[in-house]
Amino acid sequence: MRRTAVLGIAAAALLVTAGYGLAQSALELSSPDERNVVTVGVVEGALVYALERDGRTVLLPSRLGFEFRDAPPLLEGLEITGSERHGNDEVWEQPWGEVALVRDLHNELRVSVAETGDPGRQFVVVFRAFDDGIAFRYELPEQPGLEEFAITDELTEFHLAEDPRAWWIPANDPTHRYELLYRSSPASTIPEVHTPLTLETLDGPVLVIHEANLVDYAGMNLTGSWERRLSVTLPAWADGVKVRGRTPFVTPWRTIQIADRAADLAPSTIGLNLNPPNVLEDVSWIEPMKYVGIWWGMHINKVTWSSGPRHGATTENTRRFIDFAADNGFGGVLVEGWNVGWDGDWIANADLFSFTEAYPDYDLPALAAYASERGVSLIGHNETSMGVENYESQLDDAFALYQGLGIRALKTGYVGDKTAEGHAHHGQYMVRHWRRVIEAAARHEIMLNVHEPIKDTGERRTYPNMMTREGARGMEYNAWGREGGNPPEHHTILYFTRMIAGPLDYTPGVFDILVSSSDGTPRLPEESRLRTTLAKQLALYVVLYSPLQMAADLPENYEGQPAFQFIRDVPADWELTATLGGRIGDFVVVLRKDRNGPDWYLAAITDEEARSFDITLSFLPEGENFVAEIYADGEGAHWLDNPFPIEISEQPVDAGSSLTLSLAPGGGQAIRIRPAE
Ligand code: NOJ
Repeated sequence: MRRTAVLGIAAAALLVTAGYGLAQSALELSSPDERNVVTVGVVEGALVYALERDGRTVLLPSRLGFEFRDAPPLLEGLEITGSERHGNDEVWEQPWGEVALVRDLHNELRVSVAETGDPGRQFVVVFRAFDDGIAFRYELPEQPGLEEFAITDELTEFHLAEDPRAWWIPANDPTHRYELLYRSSPASTIPEVHTPLTLETLDGPVLVIHEANLVDYAGMNLTGSWERRLSVTLPAWADGVKVRGRTPFVTPWRTIQIADRAADLAPSTIGLNLNPPNVLEDVSWIEPMKYVGIWWGMHINKVTWSSGPRHGATTENTRRFIDFAADNGFGGVLVEGWNVGWDGDWIANADLFSFTEAYPDYDLPALAAYASERGVSLIGHNETSMGVENYESQLDDAFALYQGLGIRALKTGYVGDKTAEGHAHHGQYMVRHWRRVIEAAARHEIMLNVHEPIKDTGERRTYPNMMTREGARGMEYNAWGREGGNPPEHHTILYFTRMIAGPLDYTPGVFDILVSSSDGTPRLPEESRLRTTLAKQLALYVVLYSPLQMAADLPENYEGQPAFQFIRDVPADWELTATLGGRIGDFVVVLRKDRNGPDWYLAAITDEEARSFDITLSFLPEGENFVAEIYADGEGAHWLDNPFPIEISEQPVDAGSSLTLSLAPGGGQAIRIRPAE
């Protein structure tokens, strides 16, 4: 009954909007809990799918197809020639993550499609329905008439039944890439935007459209239209082609995560479930860790990347950071500006970067040895400035060098819009490059932290050395961002947008909120500076997940600060994660359980509004006694003019206790709950 009804609506909608006729018999796929229902059918020769949640239409019939260079589009004159169904229910373990165990429970429908006329090409669309969303991808099997191909457009649509509020960043900003403040507006009005794209319907579900398993394709952007049809747009190769391929070929998964409320979106595992399992036999060398580094000093212009009297990456300075890391339990020390190539305009002179030659005042082998003597690892840094050919030509030598020196992690960087040859930052050329780097790093047992990356599409399941990435407006904008730094609401938006994709190297933990350590003068309210309270900086360690998690400030700014103890204690790897509450752009309350110990961590952050939350601790094991170490906004704290007051207290708690978390405007609270001694 329902099937007929949906296709009735489908046909009617298409009739109105596209002048199509009635539907061919339709196929239906339900999620295991039967709340999400996908319907697939052919309407007047076009393949369409629609989506319902609890009987409410989420997506109207939305077209599927491609345009090719030198071949007719694959869009019309189609028929369904067969279908197959599969089910899956398994639990797999992550080597690290927001949660240790992930359940992959879904139903699958494979729909075989063929052109009724010439050239008679065939393809398959595979749908998966999970309780937390649906996904689909195209498979182009090997066949005569479809061998090598060049896609000029993917015609996939997401035809929204309503006009939800979309939280977005534009896709075509050449200087900022993903590093923009989120905006919200009706989905019908959005320009070309990046995914994950989070959509809030009125009194209905929250959706996140994204993609998974992006291996050899262009990254997907979405563009709105007055008809509420979100269409896929793909960044191009220099010659305008979007995707080059040869059959057999599979596209990335297009995912639509669905939750009843924003707080149910995270932790998000649908994308991980759509990636192939880990291919690395030995993962013992992959270990989440916290790190410090010669980094913030460059951004606040205290030291330089380039050589000269203010060079940051000197042997002496690095030894100081190694000592600081070792004394405080950090696993790594990032050093930027260590290698030749930073002098002059490093963004324009990408080809001058050497990834093996250190500046003369940086004794790489001696420092690597000193670091391992002190039980920490140097974290290498490779800024490419999008000089991808230069980088690839040195990749294996550089990674072999780092491995030999015991450098266990590497931060890469891709400042720049296009490659020298004109390929788009988020296009297939770069997707292939990033995959090559992940594979090379895995061969050399190196964990990766990618800046100016392509978005996370769940690669970490297959290559768990792909730890974290930037791909957002991070801490550095508080050093020099022209709009004065990241506003208080920023992190409460990131949690429900960018973070849905995966770990973020935001680099929290700057205690010098007014950035007075740059030249001794505290920054004025309108200048670039942090726009949080001190307690909120601590809370970000729990809220903004990263398996490589930085304490970004200068070591001297942590000296004599009791609040630093929280950063020393907080883990970077979790057994469990739950979002206890949250509203996009307003607040988030997150609970996590340490993967390697009995501690729980509870944190809340807010925007410009003061808020308080009552949390019962019923998640604690019954009958056991704990101590809550509470780092709260102090009396009178305010992000704008009084960010420093912090009140640190302890209290005994157990499963029957509850805590009231009171947050100042722009504030936060971070709580470690450890077993009582
Ligand atoms: C931009 C990165 O986001 C930042 O972390 C890094 O310091 C600079 N590029 C230089 O590589």
